[in-house]
Amino acid sequence: MQYALIYFGYAMLIAVGGSTDRSILERHKPNETRMSMRQKPLTSEFGSESTAMAVIAERDLHGKTAIVTGGHSGIGLETTRALASAGAAIYVGSRDLAKARQTLQDIAGVQVFRLDLADPVSIDQFVEQFVATRRHLDILINNAGVSGPPDIRDARGFDTQFATNYLGHFQLTLGLWRALKASGNARVVALSSVGHMAGGIDFDDIQFDRRPYDKLVSYGQSKTACALFAVELDKRGAQHGIRAYAANPGAVSTNLGRYMTEEELAAWGIVRGDDDKLIMPAGFKTAEQGAATSIWCATSPKLDGIGGAYCEDCNIAELVPVDFAGLSGVRPWAVDPVAAERLWTVSEDLLHLPSSAAD
Ligand SMILES: NC(=O)c1ccc[n+]([C@@H]2O[C@H](COP(=O)([O-])OP(=O)(O)OC[C@H]3O[C@@H](n4cnc5c(N)ncnc54)[C@H](OP(=O)(O)O)[C@@H]3O)[C@@H](O)[C@H]2O)c1
Repeated sequence: MQYALIYFGYAMLIAVGGSTDRSILERHKPNETRMSMRQKPLTSEFGSESTAMAVIAERDLHGKTAIVTGGHSGIGLETTRALASAGAAIYVGSRDLAKARQTLQDIAGVQVFRLDLADPVSIDQFVEQFVATRRHLDILINNAGVSGPPDIRDARGFDTQFATNYLGHFQLTLGLWRALKASGNARVVALSSVGHMAGGIDFDDIQFDRRPYDKLVSYGQSKTACALFAVELDKRGAQHGIRAYAANPGAVSTNLGRYMTEEELAAWGIVRGDDDKLIMPAGFKTAEQGAATSIWCATSPKLDGIGGAYCEDCNIAELVPVDFAGLSGVRPWAVDPVAAERLWTVSEDLLHLPSSAAD
């Protein structure tokens, strides 16, 4: 059965809309010029309805290597399919090898390695396996994610959504740093979400040790972290030919909504048909359309020489004010270079990584 996503947009508006904290506005003002320079929409021949296959149609990725985390399901599966169609060799990271291998068996050029992003040992093992292939890494799609679980901690006591969606990918990317550098022209894509609208990083209580756990705020924080990761990664990586982007895929019906209750489904306008299948409201994308922005970020020549941007609908998203009421655009806290640098340092500390890991 297909589950529905949590269409966080509406929830985010409830969370942040109408109660704009003026101090948030002030905090982001000094960096506004740098942020708006980066968030300049381009003229893109693609848009919200484009599919990953259409975006990649003109690209030739023979000789290129890509990693897609969670590349066997939902948006990730369509991302893998598109990259494979262009001739890339693809390594999919999955915590369930049998399931992933079965799903991907008909796609040429794909190998599956075990990867549990909530387990640092598993991440190191994945990196070791990839490094042993002696390939350079041209495209890294940090796609895997969870959304809205109850307050479950990983073995380190970290919030599951922060650990899986962001911190695991941080560790993975730094582990693959040499392989990315060896490409000379690598791109890293971090899957973000409209969920980033929930707010910035609570640096005083990232793991919800002091504030009550809220699954939407936790998801939003993890997706803001993914967007900030792209900002700082691009800053550090550009000199090595590593560019980074955050991609918001839009609203897509996938397994991401596995934690949603029937009441929550109904609240988002999702109804269950007679055959038990979920019927999505207008505005939802197919998984093929949802994967298009990841593919655009990973392959579009329009982004040559540009990085650190938050993208949606196959374009760079507009920077919108914190009190903007719409569901599009990127809020300042998700592309703030000061918060991005701070998050990077905090992440190194949480993972006990040396500051030289991305030299
Ligand atoms: N669907 C949307 O509307 C939407 C909107 C905005 C952003 N996104 C983002 O898009 C990305 C893809 O999501 P999706 O919608 O395609 O959902 P999905 O079908 O549930 O795919 C998520 C993938 O992440 C994997 N994953 C979860 N926890 C993992 C862990 N600890 N280690 C390794 N892999 C793990 C899942 O593996 P299993 O199969 O083993 O569970 C699955 O392959 C996510 O980052 C999500 O936040 C989605």
